[in-house]
Amino acid sequence: MTEIDIGFTLDGAPVRGRAEPRTHLADFIREEMLRTGTHLGCEQGVCGACTVFVDGRPTRSCITLAASCQGADVRTVEGFDDDALMRRIREAFSRHHALQCGYCTPGMLTTAYDIVRRLPDADAAPIRRELSGNLCRCTGYAGIVAAIEDVLANDPPAAALLPMPRSVPKAGSRERAARAGSDVASTPSALEAAALPDAASLEDAPHLTRSVTLAIGVEDAWALLSSPERIVTCVPGASLTEPSKDGALTGQILVAVGPIKAIFAGRGSVTFDADRRRGSLIGRGRDALSRTALDGKLDFVVAETDPGSCRLDLDMRYRLAGPLSQFGRPELVAEIADRLLAEVATAIEHEVRGGGSVAEAPKPINGFTLMVLALKAMLVKVFTGR
Ligand code: FES
Ligand code: FES
Repeated sequence: MTEIDIGFTLDGAPVRGRAEPRTHLADFIREEMLRTGTHLGCEQGVCGACTVFVDGRPTRSCITLAASCQGADVRTVEGFDDDALMRRIREAFSRHHALQCGYCTPGMLTTAYDIVRRLPDADAAPIRRELSGNLCRCTGYAGIVAAIEDVLANDPPAAALLPMPRSVPKAGSRERAARAGSDVASTPSALEAAALPDAASLEDAPHLTRSVTLAIGVEDAWALLSSPERIVTCVPGASLTEPSKDGALTGQILVAVGPIKAIFAGRGSVTFDADRRRGSLIGRGRDALSRTALDGKLDFVVAETDPGSCRLDLDMRYRLAGPLSQFGRPELVAEIADRLLAEVATAIEHEVRGGGSVAEAPKPINGFTLMVLALKAMLVKVFTGR
């Protein structure tokens, strides 16, 4: 693949290098810039070992493309050598035995730095919540939490609490829009203009089938499934941002995986075949913050099993592109789909029985589940070479 020029500020100094567009920031920093203080653990955005600051915001460098950091201000744990607050955090880590092998420590230190600057009044509970995206395999978390509490309890220097310097791209530039998390491609006018994916282009995309039994009559189920306004209230995290018209949909869905949350906003088109009680939805969404794109197609059919109950069969194809595409792994998608489907089924039954919608924001899949799935994927790779 062709290499491209990449340049940004690394730990206060401008750097330039060449890398393939698919190169992740962590690999670029470690292998091109030879700054090995940033560690790589899971390489799937789960463990937090690779956390660095990009434009003042903690960022997982293993799932961030180096090319997307063009012109950014990147700060690794090595960029804090002379920082007074980081010195105090390091000393507190030593005092509270907050590290053992030290593998997670660069990510823990950068996350701790962010917590101390953002949450000066935090006690143990919010510190633990903020640290939930950083995994430690040996020390455990008691010492790490105690170290952060210690720093917060002992008046962190006011200067260190000032926002970190950010490089500000020119007003109105595409780069600025992208870095602000409001990529031009996800503004309403751009979304309106964006074409829907071609069904044929998803033929070879990852594929998932699921079935669920609903304890309601097939007619009631179909009446709900064929109403975009009603079904969307049964899907946790989903909403229509405009009324549906002639099968055209505009909306968004929140997906939560561990500490990472993505809001895919976009457009879709749905068609129904009432005689056969089946339908097909195709759509394209984009998470502005991570600049990840999702194309998907969902075919569904509902059939009577017994009087008073029916079965909903789903056939889904999807494609993720961008930093969060690591979460397109079949194991993770299956886990998310199973949880979502169980909640959707409960919400549909509740709605049909006149109880209103019970769908709430999606509950994130926890870090342990993510680790199990990551380990499973690694073992499959080792033993099958896939
Ligand atoms: Fe990046 Fe684990 S190596 S989150
Ligand atoms: Fe070993 Fe955290 S100190 S992984």
